Amino acid sequence: MVASNPPNAVETGELDGKVAVITGASKGIGKATALAFAAAGAKVVLAARTRETLEAVAADLTESGAEAVAIPTDVTDVDAVQQLIEGTLDVYQRVDILVNNAGVGYFGRVVDFAPDDWDMVLNSNLKAIYLCAKHALPPMLAQGSGQIINVLSIAAKVAFEASAAYCAAKAGALALTKVLASEVRQQNIRVTAVLPGSVHTPFWDGVPEPPDFEQMLKPEHVAGTIVSVCGQPSGMVTEEVVVMPPLGIL
Ligand SMILES: NC(=O)c1ccc[n+]([C@@H]2O[C@H](COP(=O)([O-])OP(=O)(O)OC[C@H]3O[C@@H](n4cnc5c(N)ncnc54)[C@H](OP(=O)(O)O)[C@@H]3O)[C@@H](O)[C@H]2O)c1
Repeated sequence: MVASNPPNAVETGELDGKVAVITGASKGIGKATALAFAAAGAKVVLAARTRETLEAVAADLTESGAEAVAIPTDVTDVDAVQQLIEGTLDVYQRVDILVNNAGVGYFGRVVDFAPDDWDMVLNSNLKAIYLCAKHALPPMLAQGSGQIINVLSIAAKVAFEASAAYCAAKAGALALTKVLASEVRQQNIRVTAVLPGSVHTPFWDGVPEPPDFEQMLKPEHVAGTIVSVCGQPSGMVTEEVVVMPPLGIL
């Protein structure tokens, strides 16, 4: 006979009914994460710039019985981010989980790299995390709980040639994640950095000589990691997760 309530069992986290805001949810890792949260019973708020692709993901989710809304948002725009959180509160009245996942990668050697591309990479991968956290935190603080997952990259720790803006943005975002965690841990808000290696997503479209797609992680691997971290018991926090393809850096 199996004991129904073993004395040493840890409390397991519960995602059913939680409200998860996911940025960059129209494609790749963000879309896979939205699907995984919905499958776990969470209510998902999808954000990305392109309305059509975002609404298509939301429509697929609602048709399958999940609760999902699409709020087209440029996460580099302070007013748009404010509207994302206000829109979430209008629909679901709370924000339990924020997944900062949106980001673009432009690559090139420093000597050739355009200032506008630098701004685009830094703003979408670094400034956006600050903006989304800044606006999601007040409702989380009022609730007395919350989780923020920042999808970074192994590029936060490894210097890749022709990737100065991307590496700088991700390394900066790792520092931001640590500071943010220290600022809100006393208020029962857990903050986690997820650092994937190469993942086979549209991110690589147009990148010359990409690594072997067959060897890359699948977006579902990263999504599963994020959902698993959010389902952990409240008596622990996972501060950093590195998720790599079996062959490592490709
Ligand atoms: N793929 C990889 O190998 C890999 C590895 C490590 C880390 N990552 C990181 O994982 C995250 C997701 O990457 P992915 O591979 O899933 O990329 P992806 O397939 O290109 O998807 C990126 C998502 O972000 C959205 N987005 C981009 N800029 C945005 C902005 N300013 N405002 C709102 N949404 C924006 C895109 O939609 P719109 O264009 O419609 O806005 C899309 O939904 C990124 O932070 C990336 O750096 C990726």
